[in-house]
Amino acid sequence: MNTQNITITLSETKKEKPQSDQLEFGQVFTDHMFMMDYTEELGWHDPRIVPYQPITLDPASMIFHYGQSVFEGLKAYLTEDERILLFRPEKNFQRLNKSNDRLCIPEIDEELALTALKQLIETDREWIPTAEGTSLYIRPFVISTEPYLGVAPSGSYKFIMILSPVGSYYKEGIHPVKIAVETQFVRAVNGGTGTAKTGGNYASSLKAQEVSGKMGYSQVLWLDGVEKKYIEEVGSMNVFFKINGEIITPALNGSILQGVTRTSIIELLKYWNIPVTERRISMEEVRQAHKNGTLEEAFGTGTAAVISPIGEFFWQDEKLLINEGKTGELSKKLYDTLTGIQRGKLEDPLDWVV
Ligand code: COI
Repeated sequence: MNTQNITITLSETKKEKPQSDQLEFGQVFTDHMFMMDYTEELGWHDPRIVPYQPITLDPASMIFHYGQSVFEGLKAYLTEDERILLFRPEKNFQRLNKSNDRLCIPEIDEELALTALKQLIETDREWIPTAEGTSLYIRPFVISTEPYLGVAPSGSYKFIMILSPVGSYYKEGIHPVKIAVETQFVRAVNGGTGTAKTGGNYASSLKAQEVSGKMGYSQVLWLDGVEKKYIEEVGSMNVFFKINGEIITPALNGSILQGVTRTSIIELLKYWNIPVTERRISMEEVRQAHKNGTLEEAFGTGTAAVISPIGEFFWQDEKLLINEGKTGELSKKLYDTLTGIQRGKLEDPLDWVV
């Protein structure tokens, strides 16, 4: 694929931009989007930046029926000296292709995707918000478009990237969230699609989220799908614990998504010489640690929220309050460091920023 062939059609009108300090998550979109098509005859072709617009699809398009789709999420920041920074974007396109492989979607050219993304952001650079806690959220995704009702991989696809200026993902921001441990529903099992970023994983998580929301909890803690003992993820994020000085995160076991933020935190902790272990951890171990006073902190990690401290778990009629429901020191330090690196305000010792 010749990466020089991205055509650009500029929008004739410009939308009104939201106030940077009043942004919520994922509600407004910029003036342009990137799009490219796949057919069996031509492969991926016609990469183009066009005005942001609705897309027209045949009602029989396979995406509507069997959900063959994948997506990614990453963020861009504008520095005080007007440079645009991306955080490890190559990791997102690598994962997009891993998800593509799991969902039988043809591989995309990662280099082309990154070049296109840079051009798209440059086109809409005026939309990058600069207020504290805001960023330009990037949503690359692939949908299956062949009009056919047989259960089979689609013969045609669209790869699209849209941009959205965002504030914090959880209304709590960096303040601790209350989490219910999910005992009925499961997110994924080994051999399923848990390691792929595909819409179905999120659709099937909604029921648990709805039930926990009615109980006053922000999200659920997902346990493994077989024994319902071992911790997997929290909401749509990876999860970390600090127990007696040791940082623990569930090992990638075939059903957990390999988060870019998760990987970065492990690498950062190692760089700081803080012990971090990827291993199996049960909810019972967390309860015991809480009981004997060694459960120091728990937090979720993801692109959208970056770090989301956990202030309380609800499990089997018991409330486990963590760090008196306050943001822990490590959670705060990781949040400040990661967002500082992402925004170009701190040194980037591991060479992550593009
Ligand atoms: C993230 O934490 O970045 C996510 O995956 C959330 C996203 C689905 C909005």
